[in-house]
Amino acid sequence: MVENPFIFGKVVRGEHFCDREHEMEQIKKMVGSRQHIVVISPRRYGKTSLVINALERNRIPYVYVDCSLVEDEKGLIGVVINDYAKKLDNLAILEKFLKRFDISVSVTIHPVNVTISQIGTDSLKNILMEVGKNYVIVFDEFQDIYEKDKRLVNKIRSIVQFLEKSVVMLGSKRHLLNSMFLKPRGIFYNFGYALHLGKIEKAEFSKFIARWFRKNGIELKKEEIDEVLDISECHPFFTQYLCHFLFEKRLSGKKEVEVKEVLNDILEMNSVFYDETYRSLPLGQRKALHLLSYGKKEVYSAELLKRFDITSSQALQKALKSLIKKEIVDKNGNYYILDIFFKHWLYQKVLNQMV
Ligand SMILES: Nc1ncnc2c1ncn2[C@@H]1O[C@H](COP(=O)(O)OP(=O)(O)OP(=O)(O)O)[C@@H](O)[C@H]1O
Ligand SMILES: [Mg+2]
Repeated sequence: MVENPFIFGKVVRGEHFCDREHEMEQIKKMVGSRQHIVVISPRRYGKTSLVINALERNRIPYVYVDCSLVEDEKGLIGVVINDYAKKLDNLAILEKFLKRFDISVSVTIHPVNVTISQIGTDSLKNILMEVGKNYVIVFDEFQDIYEKDKRLVNKIRSIVQFLEKSVVMLGSKRHLLNSMFLKPRGIFYNFGYALHLGKIEKAEFSKFIARWFRKNGIELKKEEIDEVLDISECHPFFTQYLCHFLFEKRLSGKKEVEVKEVLNDILEMNSVFYDETYRSLPLGQRKALHLLSYGKKEVYSAELLKRFDITSSQALQKALKSLIKKEIVDKNGNYYILDIFFKHWLYQKVLNQMV
């Protein structure tokens, strides 16, 4: 069976990873000069894939800390040690390592799993200092710790400034990251190099898509690739998602299936979820979403407000603020709907006058 080369929803590596050459070079350079890095982007732009590929391709040893799994200091130590244990691949060294710190642990093997039952005041510091001697430490979704335990964030801050190797912090909740890393009063202000990750360049994504289809005996027309990237707006996740289903259809013999049909299938597939989200919103926020789905930049123009029956620009502003809080909308210069397929679904509703 042919494997679908378009992967979405997990970290992509090797040939499944497209471009980002410039960003990978920046990460390599920063790590080489022991600079800390913070990578910021909206959700699913490819932060985790970028950092992992940059480190692995350059053979830079790293320990990966998924902060969304961390509830407290003990949990953080657990996540650090468990990833570190995977890298060691040798139980004797691991046991020697664990003995050096003021922690109570139990270790199971196959696969190795370390459970921490007790920690001391300096355990976190000593462990990070030791791991940070040889490994770059990657704190993914770092803002999650900030949301749960600000004291722990302060503690991490005070430790990582003394680490020998770089630390890479990744996050997607921009308002939190901005207040932590970019505002002069933020605890991580001037902490390191801020890499704002954008979408993938159209020319690179086009080549990537064409190559994978061609490799499997399918010739996509240039206009079809353009259409895919128009719909997905070159968003890494949504492009892979759309290509995945286009590939599946074309491979199953439906040579003539159009990109639009595939999009409609996806919208149909997700419609229960979209409908639920939509129905849960008050009228003002629904109207704001319809307005955004229209794709115009000047959202406060009198003409648009009238077109979508919104009473005032203040009312629109209030609705947008709530939608940002709900992580349905974001603002990056302009307001936009985060889920591009949801945006298409909303737009079709407007077209069909179903609002
Ligand atoms: N360079 C890339 N080449 C091809 N596809 C990519 C690339 N980067 C990201 N993707 C696509 O986007 C998806 C999300 O990538 P990834 O998990 O790395 O993003 P993220 O920004 O860390 O997401 P999250 O905000 O959920 O943590 C991947 O599963 C893949 O489909
Ligand atoms: Mg990620």
